[in-house]
Amino acid sequence: MSDRSDAPTSVIRLADYRPPAWSVEHVALEFDLGIDRTEVAATLELVRQADEPIRLNGEGLELLSLGVDGRTLAEGEYILADGVLEIAIDAERCTVNTRVAVHPAENTAFEGLYLSGSRDRGFLLTQCEAEGFRHITFFPDRPDVLSRYTVTLRADHDRFPVLLAGGNPDGEGVLADGRHWARFVDPHPKPSYLFAVVAGRLERISHDYTTADGRAVALHIWAEADVIDRCDYAMDSLIRSMQWDERTYGRNYDLDVFHVVATHDFNMGAMENKGLNIFNAKYLLADPDSSTDDEYRHVEAVVAHEYFHNWSGNRVTCRDWFQLSLKEGLTVFREQSFSADMNSAPLKRIEDVALLRRAQFPEDAGPLSHPVRPSQYSEINNFYTATVYEKGSELVRMLAGHLGQEGFRKGMDRYFERHDGQAATIEDFLTALGDANGTDLSPYLAWYGQAGTPRLSAEGRFDAAQRRYRLTLRQRTPATAGQTAKQALPIPVRLSLFDQSGKALPLRLEGEAAAGATERTVVLDSAERGFVFEDVDASPVPSLLRGFSAPVILECDYVPGELAILLRHDPDGFNRWEAGQQLAGLAYDDCRDGNVEGSALRAWTEALTHLFNDKGVDDALLAELLTPPGEIELVERQAERDPDRIRIARQAMLRKLAQRIGAEALRARYAGLRSETTAALDAPSQARRQLKRRVLDLYALIQPGEARELARAQYEQAPGMTDRLAALTTLATLDAHAAEAAIAHFRQRYDGNALALDKWFAMQALLPGADALARVQALEDDQAFMLKNPNRVQSLLGSFARANPTGFHRADGAAYRWLADRLVAVDSLNPQVAARVATAFNGWKRLEPVRREAAHAVVAELASRKDLSRDLTDILARVAL
Ligand code: PHE
Ligand code: ZN
Repeated sequence: MSDRSDAPTSVIRLADYRPPAWSVEHVALEFDLGIDRTEVAATLELVRQADEPIRLNGEGLELLSLGVDGRTLAEGEYILADGVLEIAIDAERCTVNTRVAVHPAENTAFEGLYLSGSRDRGFLLTQCEAEGFRHITFFPDRPDVLSRYTVTLRADHDRFPVLLAGGNPDGEGVLADGRHWARFVDPHPKPSYLFAVVAGRLERISHDYTTADGRAVALHIWAEADVIDRCDYAMDSLIRSMQWDERTYGRNYDLDVFHVVATHDFNMGAMENKGLNIFNAKYLLADPDSSTDDEYRHVEAVVAHEYFHNWSGNRVTCRDWFQLSLKEGLTVFREQSFSADMNSAPLKRIEDVALLRRAQFPEDAGPLSHPVRPSQYSEINNFYTATVYEKGSELVRMLAGHLGQEGFRKGMDRYFERHDGQAATIEDFLTALGDANGTDLSPYLAWYGQAGTPRLSAEGRFDAAQRRYRLTLRQRTPATAGQTAKQALPIPVRLSLFDQSGKALPLRLEGEAAAGATERTVVLDSAERGFVFEDVDASPVPSLLRGFSAPVILECDYVPGELAILLRHDPDGFNRWEAGQQLAGLAYDDCRDGNVEGSALRAWTEALTHLFNDKGVDDALLAELLTPPGEIELVERQAERDPDRIRIARQAMLRKLAQRIGAEALRARYAGLRSETTAALDAPSQARRQLKRRVLDLYALIQPGEARELARAQYEQAPGMTDRLAALTTLATLDAHAAEAAIAHFRQRYDGNALALDKWFAMQALLPGADALARVQALEDDQAFMLKNPNRVQSLLGSFARANPTGFHRADGAAYRWLADRLVAVDSLNPQVAARVATAFNGWKRLEPVRREAAHAVVAELASRKDLSRDLTDILARVAL
């Protein structure tokens, strides 16, 4: 690896942005591909934009030759230092020729050109976002340099029968010595991070698609032969995504071909390279025998996400990496809307909000917190975060809510029209949306620059004499790492008022003539504001932040009975769930405080029992309602953070729930859901599987022996992965020892199926308790475990460290020390992956003292090392602060 931290680490600041001094009109690349050595010849047509030398980025490149306007430069006619090639010249335009060599098989960081799979059977591919292109050739590797690309690939025909690059095909042919070539021309100017090539033995499935504006597009999904039969769902998702973007945003695809490629060796989820998307196989392959229902939904969402980038990201790209959320937040929002349309909108919203709370809120509350648009970074790879993606999407959602569906569409049309072919900023986005609607959205810009999750507090006062209800809203954002002063943000609060019978009241604000709808949005745009509702006969129950109208933490002194009313009566599935989550939080507090007769705990178990027995509640929603906030979210309700105690209290509340519903009712419900013999993917079947799992897990809390028998039978008879993995998890959670035979059976059944094995590793890594570390260590000896595969590292190390609080946060600190050791090993292969896993240390400062001390020692030791990558060093430096 090249970027060790003993090299100077420089901080990049948004405030220092300057436009490129030279633009690149056209780039011609010629690849002579080989696994050990690939040569890349580049011809750049450069045009001067400022009075400065040409500066090209290049890292880990062996420079073979360099010429300007046909003349070879001698040493001394250029400077090559610290990853920058500098050429001083007088002309307004010039042509620079470089020839370099790179070594794909040695590239274990999976950035630039690398080998996926084994030397004899794997294939070559590239990953350029954010700054991988400089590992392939010398280039001004920044997103505001947009160029047209012509790419020629040459390689041995037998070893690399398939040659792909982004753009339209522009010829292919045979060469001497068993070699062949193929050329691609991309007519759309693009930044270097969207460049991609793929070469090797791949199979494909294809579909002829015609866009709404009449373009014939050949869609191809490529994968290695052993998994090509698992690509159909991705193709189906792609077609639906294309149709959806035409329908919803009037956006058509813009090349004659669209390629999607699956690889098992990928650092992230997937990549939107122009015309040649590359996917982590985890988000592309799906079949009932190896994929769960959740995974099918993920495939659908990620395929859509990458496709949607073709407009939100590619046609309009980012000026600089600080604007990353311009493409990511927007594209996540588009993807979420698509999934909501394809599936159930309330369930989708529940999933997204749960993810935000589980992943983004903790990030925003710890030392790694940063604004959606950071103001500085030392390693951009560390900013592909839940904040940039998920919170960024919430910000777009607020804007969309503010403008309304039609207004938002008009705004998006304006944005795409005005900035097509440009590298834009978040200001450009807000301005375009605002201009199209004759409104000023600039107050929302503050959300992009301020880190931390705002606390929204609400206080209601009912005045019987005046028949008025006064709602006072206040906001406050706690200080975050490096940002202490916080300002008030515009917080849209969608709300309804319910009477005690659960009926929504028509709303009339003070000063308005007539009552309007039963739901409306008020905006809190200062530290505090009161809203007075007229004609209110009795003290109402406010339902606030409906649909999660802003990414904030609501603090409202509900009494349990009020939440129970909302949980039972709110017509909107999301709000019902939300009331249930809040009530569950209070019920948790009761358990935590040892108050087993607490009123919240009683209200929660009673309301859920009622819903459980109400045949009108949708199976999937019921499954969600039966799931209280997870151990990671509950950390927030704890002064002293002791994961063991959190788990004990949470398990206690679940057991109470199971008891209240009753063994008989649970068993009967399970039996009723059991009958399934196929793994059909329709929504009701998925919902049944999900509920079945929740019911069995609740049953296991009160009847472990019987539950084990049911789980064993379910494992044996499962028609697909969802039921099989759920049953295995239940068995293993009940008693890992007793589950050994089933665990071994699964291991053998899926030998050679990488994605199924990942789930096998993850399932075991997530089993709670102090034994978890020993279990994980034993799994490291499994033949299938390897540090060089990111998915495998995530499934074992990542799952354990980031999602198994009782296992990872062992009081003796043994798991911290073990992880530190492994991080060093992973870092020497793949810095991006090491940095990601290291974020598990994010919350150490708020642990109880014993664990805190243990974690501190490990973090400080690691942070002091000088031999780690810039990626890992950056995370550790911030975490250790
Ligand atoms: N841009 C990709 C996406 O979100 C994510 C990604 C980032 C992939 C960096 C690879 C490297 O769609
Ligand atoms: Zn993206």
